[in-house]
Amino acid sequence: MIILGIETSCDETAVSIIEAQGDLKSLGFKYLGSAINSQIKIHSEYGGVVPNIAKREHTKNLPIILEEALRSTGLKDLKSIDLIAVTVGPGLEPALWTGIIFAKELSEKWNIPMVPTNHMDGHIVSVLLNKTEESSVRKIEFPILALLISGGHTEFIFLKSWTEKEKIGQTQDDAVGEAFDKVARMLGLPYPGGPEISNLAEIARTKNIVLENKFPRPMLHSKDLNFSFSGLKTSVLYYLKNLTSISDQTKLAVAREFEDAVIETLISKTQKALQKTEAKTLIIGGGVIANKALRENFLKLKETYSQNYGEIEIIIPEKSLTTDNATMIAAAGFIEYLRDRKPNQNFKAEGNLEVS
Ligand code: KG4
Ligand code: ZN
Repeated sequence: MIILGIETSCDETAVSIIEAQGDLKSLGFKYLGSAINSQIKIHSEYGGVVPNIAKREHTKNLPIILEEALRSTGLKDLKSIDLIAVTVGPGLEPALWTGIIFAKELSEKWNIPMVPTNHMDGHIVSVLLNKTEESSVRKIEFPILALLISGGHTEFIFLKSWTEKEKIGQTQDDAVGEAFDKVARMLGLPYPGGPEISNLAEIARTKNIVLENKFPRPMLHSKDLNFSFSGLKTSVLYYLKNLTSISDQTKLAVAREFEDAVIETLISKTQKALQKTEAKTLIIGGGVIANKALRENFLKLKETYSQNYGEIEIIIPEKSLTTDNATMIAAAGFIEYLRDRKPNQNFKAEGNLEVS
């Protein structure tokens, strides 16, 4: 089955085409082509994503990105598309609606069924995809623990199968990507802040620059699987407020200490969640897992956890699929299709849609 995925939940306008096969026990995906337009430059002027500007840009760019995606696969039109998967939430509602309306028009014009897709399901299944290999059928052992870390979310999802999911922990305030973005802003760095902080932290590590203060590791010892990042962010704010000026050296040291605090918190909570759930596989999805130091620390966790508690598989998506994209939406749409088989025509944007 050939699936067209459409993603407009935030500041990326993305269209992707994949071929999907198999069933819920053995999913197979072949990447055919895609196109994406990032609005990061436009929003960075405002220090964050402005919903109405995102809406305007998506509306303008969707037909262009669709053309480009089709061209990249060698298709001229939508005749060979069997299913349209579109993100209906979570995300910015004005932005989500643009994708839904566009998908609906295509669905009616070409008489193709469409399925509503949860953006977070996309981040989970992004680990099943491979843009470089011919096709990918990846066997993954259940139960799965998914850690989703992005600009809008920080949560643990426990999966008994691809369709039995439960949220077992989440941030009580800021998402981890949001904390990266806000701290970057305090340091005078552009949006999105994650990659900027990550670069500075890496330089600080190679130059052995350390901050004399320690920032808190929030909720490290709480028994639950929840997170909180606003206290950490506020500690950075107060630290900077007490300085008369912020030197480049200070920026490096703050970036490193902040990143270390985030990494320690995420690793420690994940270890706790793995022990609690006895999951066989850990999937990590969302833009923040593009962070190099965090990836390295998760690889270390795989070793220490396997030695002490039993074998665990840790799967991280390939880099181009960690941040928002439509390939993961097409794949999640296939699962939704297999699950329901009665494509739903009653679509609406749901900003706070939960994984279900
Ligand atoms: O998943 P994503 O592309 O969009 C959302 O659904 O939010 O994630 C974007 C978030 C932003 O907050 C961005 O700063 C963060 O991911 N991010 C990073 C890195 N690259 C992107 N955070 C830390 N280190 C990175 N290298
Ligand atoms: Zn995302």
